[in-house]
Parts: sequence; C-alpha cells; structure tokens
Amino acid sequence: MKTIDLRSDTVTLPTDSMRQAIYNAELGDDVFSEDPTTNRLEKMAAERMGKEAAIMVASGTMGNLVCLLTHCSRGDEVILGNQSHSFLYEAGGMSALGGIHPHTVVNQPDGTMRPEDIEAAIRSDNVHFPRSRLICLENTHNYCNGTPLTVEYTKKVAALARKRGLKVHLDGARIFNAAVALGVDVKELTGPVDSVSFCLSKGLAAPVGSVICGSREFIAEARRNRKILGGGMRQCGIIAAAGIAALEQMVERLTEDHANARRLAEGIACTQDLSLEPETVKTNIIYFEITSEKISAEMLVKKLAAKGIKILNLGPNRLRAVTHYGINSDDIDLTLKALKKITEEP
Ligand SMILES: Cc1ncc(COP(=O)(O)O)c(C=O)c1O
Repeated sequence: MKTIDLRSDTVTLPTDSMRQAIYNAELGDDVFSEDPTTNRLEKMAAERMGKEAAIMVASGTMGNLVCLLTHCSRGDEVILGNQSHSFLYEAGGMSALGGIHPHTVVNQPDGTMRPEDIEAAIRSDNVHFPRSRLICLENTHNYCNGTPLTVEYTKKVAALARKRGLKVHLDGARIFNAAVALGVDVKELTGPVDSVSFCLSKGLAAPVGSVICGSREFIAEARRNRKILGGGMRQCGIIAAAGIAALEQMVERLTEDHANARRLAEGIACTQDLSLEPETVKTNIIYFEITSEKISAEMLVKKLAAKGIKILNLGPNRLRAVTHYGINSDDIDLTLKALKKITEEP
C-alpha cells in the first residue's frame, strides 16, 4: 500500500536527477570557499533573489538564526508575527544563542502584521527599552494557511522599516510557492528586504539545505555566524548539487501542488463534520477543523493512518495537510474518499 504523506512538504524525497547530480558533484572544502558546486549554488541563488551574495546553511531554522544573529546584537529587539515560525517553532534560538528579544505583533489571518501595529511596536530611544533593530516577515506564511504576502505589502513594510532605521528579514522558506501563486518574479518579493532565507528541502524536494541571500557585506558576516554555530560544512557540494537541480527543475511544478491543495480543500469543504473555506487556500498548505463531537483530530489522524494516509494533528479539532512533489490528484481523491468514509461512520 502506498503511503500518502500529507504532514508536510519536508517529507519530499530527492528526484532521480538530484541523486545523479549528487553522485557527479565536483567537491572541495567549502570552509575554504573551495567547493565549486556550493559556490555555483550560492551564485545562482543570489541571482534568483536579486541579491549580491548568498550562503548555504543546513536548514531553514539555521538560516533564520544566522540572519537574526547577523542583523542584531545582544539586547536588540526583533518585531515578528505571533504566529511566525521563528517565534513558535525555532526553539527560541534567537534568545538562547543571540540574546535577542522577540517583540510579537498579531498576525492577521492572511499572515500580514498591520503596518500600524508594527509601527506601534517600534521602540523610542530610551534606556528602559531594548533597541528595535529588525522586522521579520514570513512568506508564504505557514501557520496562516500558507498565504503568500504580496509585493505591495512587502514594499510597504520595507518602506516603514527604512523610515524608522530598521532592517527587514524575510523567512522565505516557501518563497517560490509565493512567487508561483502570485505570478510574480521571486525578485519582486525579495527585492524590498535586506535578507532572505529560503529552503531547498521543502516544496523544491532537495534532501537538505537552505540558502541565505543579502548584500556582500551581510553575507560575509553571516559566514562568520554560521561558523560560530558549527555550520561550516566541508564538502557540502553533495548537498548543493541537489539544490541546483531543485532551483533548475522544481520551481514551476509548484503550481501542481497548489492545484492539488485546492482540490483537497474543495473536497474537505463538502465533507460532513469538516470545515474549511477553500478560498483561503492559495498555495500548498491547508488547515481544517472538525465541527462534530463525534470524532477528535487525534482519532481522525489514527483512522487515516490505518488507511496509509498521514496528516498532522494540531489538536483538539485542528488538522493540517500539505501537498508536495510525490502527491498527485489520485492521492487527493483517495484521501477525500477516506475522509468521507471515516466521517460518515456511525
Ligand atoms: C516558515 C518556515 N520557516 C522556517 C522553517 C524551518 O525549516 P527547517 O525545518 O529546515 O529548519 C519552516 C519549517 O517548516 C517553516 O515552515
């Protein structure tokens, strides 16, 4: 029985051409900047994002942390969404390792923070306060239905940051999902910000890795911070080779994942005891609720798992499903059939 794993796009496995690229990768010591494949990936990533330079890191979490450590000193404050991945799911790395103070602002259902709320969070120059240094955006916004932030919104926040002397970091773990969903060049979404970290290992299906892009000066300092974290990886062209294949071959196909997510959302909206507004699904992440006392999220997940289908329980009534490379429309139909069967059980 095929397992249909909809828990996350992090479960994607490398394509055959990635495995071939890994096998053939030309290697060197990247801590000496001598790994030709990593150098190639970094050049390619910087060009794609419209930035001067780039550096590969081990994960999205490391990418965000290295950027925060590079923008901020101990005691500085970061303004970020209360539903952001960096605030909720990165083990408090910014304060644990950087002494950086998170100042949360409410995320609206579309993943934005209201500019007036951001402005109100910026501290005045007063010895009682931490120094506001950085604003973090997340695009697409994982916890807010995978919603893409628009170019206009990104520009608005960047202009506000500039006016108040702050920098902007973009957690662009799924920035290509955003670009594809909005029909814009990814540069339009990254141009207004000072740094961006994006993942090779989620929808793009590479096995490991993220890339940070920014100015030459910023990336030089990020390289030092990556080293401090133990993230200098020697022959990491092994990873970069798959990343190059991901950038070259896996971006345009994200539209398939978005279409599958929409198909799943529309089916769930018509399923007894389940609730979801399909028009909120714009990329590959969907959240839905159970509206009946009859079954809990935990039970539903167990019953689906018995049929070879995995989704994420965010309990007690909330669930998440994510479409990705390896999931096709037949898998979506099988999932909908299974959900219908389970929810219609007496
Ligand atoms: C928006 C966002 N940022 C960062 C990360 C962290 O990425 P990683 O799991 O590679 O550390 C994730 C992971 O799911 C994410 O969804």
